[in-house]
Amino acid sequence: MLCDHQCRVVENRAVSDALWVIVFESQTPFACLPGQFVMIDLPEDRWFFRRPMSVLSVDETKKRFSVFYRVVGQGTNILARLQLGTHLNVLGPLGNSFTPPQNPDKAILIGGGIGIAPLYWLAYTLHASGLPVPHCYYGVRSAQDVGLDNELASLLGSRLQISTDDGSLNFKGNVCGLLQQDAETIRSAETAYICGPTKMMQASCELLTQLNPGIKTEVSLEEHMPCGTGACGGCVVFRADDKLPSKVCVEGPVFDASVLYWGDALQGHQKEASSCLR
Ligand code: FES
Repeated sequence: MLCDHQCRVVENRAVSDALWVIVFESQTPFACLPGQFVMIDLPEDRWFFRRPMSVLSVDETKKRFSVFYRVVGQGTNILARLQLGTHLNVLGPLGNSFTPPQNPDKAILIGGGIGIAPLYWLAYTLHASGLPVPHCYYGVRSAQDVGLDNELASLLGSRLQISTDDGSLNFKGNVCGLLQQDAETIRSAETAYICGPTKMMQASCELLTQLNPGIKTEVSLEEHMPCGTGACGGCVVFRADDKLPSKVCVEGPVFDASVLYWGDALQGHQKEASSCLR
């Protein structure tokens, strides 16, 4: 149920040098579909805007949910310093969600960096329903940027493939190299779900279209979101099928990749926005 959840921090741990997982416990029931996000109200007065974060996992029975984040600036530094028992408000769940695959065996996940969070939650919910987990291609800069090694390995098993830019773990190169290496699986896939840096998502979409023109692809945008509720207009992107801009926080963050305009407008806006998020 969407509301401003009064939460307390029950876990906040570093999983690598700069990657953290924080777990909130809400006073009220919390449920969230894969792809939805929350707006975290940091408990320091000078921070006016809340932080948008994808949900990594949910335990409805305990009213708990987790978020996977990278410490990259002042806001996430504050988050990493939150002590257990800290009370704060979290608005959510917000936005739309991934369309569940009709045939999970023919679905693929493509994640970059902390963009793996909503994809993990999608795979987890499929698995929890007794369905197969999709093939997952996860690109990071180096081995220490994987962060969720154990969780990903135990959920996805041999369906998880990791690329590292520096070759410190598994495949050396970017996630597109992984896709090309596994082209047979990509050609037979029906649906793809992507989340990560904009350039990585755009390159992955282009490669998917080359390898499998019929594949249905959804992308989850990591957008700057001052309000998260459609009020400010600060998160718009442009779609090829609509002259009016789309608000990512309300009409997204998940979009059909075939209608999303991957031009300078989206990239320029996100580049500008990413510095504001930190
Ligand atoms: Fe304000 Fe989307 S964040 S309209």
